[in-house]
Amino acid sequence: MERITHSSAETEALARELAKALRPGDVLAFRGGLGAGKTAFVRGLAQAMAPDAEVSSPTFALVNEYQGQIPLWHFDMYRITSLEDVASTGFFDYLEMGGVLAVEWSEHIEPALPEGTIFITIGRPPEGGENDRIITIDGMEGRIS
Ligand SMILES: Nc1ncnc2c1ncn2[C@@H]1O[C@H](COP(=O)(O)OP(=O)(O)O)[C@@H](O)[C@H]1O
Ligand SMILES: [Mg+2]
Repeated sequence: MERITHSSAETEALARELAKALRPGDVLAFRGGLGAGKTAFVRGLAQAMAPDAEVSSPTFALVNEYQGQIPLWHFDMYRITSLEDVASTGFFDYLEMGGVLAVEWSEHIEPALPEGTIFITIGRPPEGGENDRIITIDGMEGRIS
């Protein structure tokens, strides 16, 4: 699935929509560089899944937890470079805990991503404006249209 959004608010709304189709154990692997809109997307997920939570980039904490009916764990793997580092974030433990994992900078942990990972790639359309983003979601075929 591919969508164009024209503001961070639209990206959040798309994420809230997608959140309805998420299940315990899902891993969302974000791709797209600094300022793409990964954290904006996760903010939308949290709005739907844990309405009371405050979302910030977990760059320093590495993982933020948003408690809702299905817990949402938000990772930032920007500084992660080895599988040992991945393990030290608790990623593999969280995988077993029946929540949804949203992973920024998933490019850095590609070999650690489980089968069935949902990839969300955020980029800028070639001729788009400053606030246009092209968002591609792979791995939710049959769950969203
Ligand atoms: N369509 C859009 N979707 C998401 N963010 C957008 C969009 N248009 C502009 N922005 C801006 O781009 C920036 C994205 O920041 P952020 O979500 O922190 O990116 P990342 O986590 O990928 O580094 C924010 O300043 C946001 O306001
Ligand atoms: Mg971010």
